[in-house]
Amino acid sequence: MDYLKIVGGVKLQGAINISGAKNAALPLMASTLLSKNTTTIKNLPNVVDIKTFLNLLEMLGSDVNFNNNTAIINTNNLKNTKATYDIVRKMRASILVLGPLLARFKQCEVSLPGGCAIGARPVDLHIKALEKMGANIKVENGYIVAEAKQGLKGAIINFDKITVTGSENIIMAASLAHGKSKILNVAKEPEVVQLCEVLQQAGVDIKGIGSDELEIYGTSGEGLEFKEISVIPDRIEAGTYLCAAGVTNSQITLHNIDSTHLGAVISKLEEIGFKLTYNQDSITIYPAKELNAFEISTAEYPGFPTDMQAQFMALATQCNGVSIIEERLFENRFMHVSELQRMGANIILKNNTATINGKNELFGAPVMATDLRASSALILAALIANKESTIHRIYHLDRGYENLEEKFLKLGANIIREKE
Ligand code: EPZ
Repeated sequence: MDYLKIVGGVKLQGAINISGAKNAALPLMASTLLSKNTTTIKNLPNVVDIKTFLNLLEMLGSDVNFNNNTAIINTNNLKNTKATYDIVRKMRASILVLGPLLARFKQCEVSLPGGCAIGARPVDLHIKALEKMGANIKVENGYIVAEAKQGLKGAIINFDKITVTGSENIIMAASLAHGKSKILNVAKEPEVVQLCEVLQQAGVDIKGIGSDELEIYGTSGEGLEFKEISVIPDRIEAGTYLCAAGVTNSQITLHNIDSTHLGAVISKLEEIGFKLTYNQDSITIYPAKELNAFEISTAEYPGFPTDMQAQFMALATQCNGVSIIEERLFENRFMHVSELQRMGANIILKNNTATINGKNELFGAPVMATDLRASSALILAALIANKESTIHRIYHLDRGYENLEEKFLKLGANIIREKE
């Protein structure tokens, strides 16, 4: 297994390009199951989760070609509608094939994804919504066994909780259903919006895109014709690098971003004391005279993103005063806290709230990654810790950050990937 060796105390500088968004790419790849033509998806990040999802589509019988961040996918010769445990357990976003497979092929079996480091991550809301659309769903031997012999029918779906992949699954299912669906309390993340826009351009009549209420007129099982797709920039990758500049109090520039997706992150960084200048597709962050403590409560978009919570906790160790971070979406998304404490961070955890008493001097240490975003927080801490840190189990990072050490090297960090 690989690990990262980082020597802290180095200022960052220069500019990097941000990759396409993993969390936009996954539902877009799933949506090709609704397509009757070959679909080209560009600006895919070359990360493990993308390759895992493409393997899943191939396992189902799709023709897939992937190189240079572009995938060409044809799902017309699909032979199999069973997404097996061995692939779903690697990536719970595989659940995104449930809606499209059921809508297009009228039956499918998808392994229950199971929990992960950050929480139980149930999919009850996905299942409940599909049942409202006429699906007959059983859960047996760890699999969701679903069928809709007459196809899915449009329904009024009111999500009890806002769920990103739940919304995406139902939006895709409703696109091929018979009649109109109305989806209330739907997620508004930019990744959900791009999925809606792509389906609309493929011929689906969708109203209310970007709002929390969608009206979708299904094609009654008629396959869609997709235009070429280019994945939106990764707002979480961009936010992670902005926090890297923040913890080292450096000036860097990010290209290929969409600043309209970064509102909550930008305003929080400005509140801490950083100056940022940006246009539609690039952003520069400048050093702060001093870093002020802050408060965060994670929320669904456009609120503060839970996927940026760990990175801001690393930043909070460098802020003067008491910062408070409340995690409202997941029940166990503080796995990075104990590792940050081992590096000298003064953090007190009580239920779903962390109190960070900054400013802390951090010391290099061997630490272990536990989940994708927690791992990135450990890198940020290592960038300002005294001496050397080693970050182990970085396969978590490779799931969602493209060319991570190359990008940090380009910014001047002292970082190297080694073999255990
Ligand atoms: C998506 O996960 C993202 N993943 C996550 O990013 C992100 O943290 C999360 O949304 C929240 O923004 C992808 O888009 C592939 P949810 P998802 O369903 O859809 C509860 C990363 O680091 N819930 O919006 O699985 C759930 O337990 C990943 O890139 C139910 O109770 O999250 C959670 O408390 C991590 N029942 C809350 O809703 C359900 O059926 C939000 O979960 C579904 C969800």
